[in-house]
Amino acid sequence: MRKKIIAGNWKMNKTPSEAAALIHDLKDKCNSGASDVVFCVPYVDLSTALDLLKGTNIAVGAQNMHFEDSGAFTGEISAPMLKEMGVRYVIIGHSERREYFAETDVTVNKKVKKALSAGLIPILCVGETLTQREQGITVDLLRQQTRIAFLDVTAADAAKTVVAYEPIWAIGTGKVATDEQAQEACAAIRRVIGEIYAQATAQAIRIQYGGSVSAANAKGLFAMPDIDGGLVGGASLKADFAQIVNS
Ligand code: PGA
Repeated sequence: MRKKIIAGNWKMNKTPSEAAALIHDLKDKCNSGASDVVFCVPYVDLSTALDLLKGTNIAVGAQNMHFEDSGAFTGEISAPMLKEMGVRYVIIGHSERREYFAETDVTVNKKVKKALSAGLIPILCVGETLTQREQGITVDLLRQQTRIAFLDVTAADAAKTVVAYEPIWAIGTGKVATDEQAQEACAAIRRVIGEIYAQATAQAIRIQYGGSVSAANAKGLFAMPDIDGGLVGGASLKADFAQIVNS
């Protein structure tokens, strides 16, 4: 049995004082330990989140990192920096990073490997655009993104990774994938993991759905056999997040 994992992706929202207020609102309601819960906050909120969530079942994640340990990369943050702070998860290859910051499957692969070697758990995002879905190439695209992301990653490391299936057309649009569409895509990703590694790895890896997850639709999505939780954007900034965690 895979333990469900619900992660909030705060994106570029909340100053440190606002972050503290939101964490105070949410932490007791998200702390049952029945599922793994992660708050992926902006870099400047990491120390606040780590302080306030110490001793709870809620882990802290970052939303990006560089693939080198250190060097002349102005404005970037490295895996060892996050690790030393006590950060446990890092979102890699979110579609907004791919679209606005020119991340590619190749840089995503470098980041996945670096995160794992530093002892961070990557939340690897994959997903198709509306055009790609309409062209019928969703599964091909997911195969390509997944295969490249896991190049030169051992089975043991792959099993620790969390994959988030995030159809781009559902992100921030209020247009959620149906339970069946989300299930089909997550099952396809699991099949690809099974092509790369043994079935045991495919069965161990946790695959989230992300894209307009809400308190109203979470229960149906999370009940699907290949969906092991969610990556939640907009609704992670509200009291609704606790309802999502508890569905
Ligand atoms: P959303 O974002 O829940 O606001 O659609 C999800 C995400 O981008 O991870």
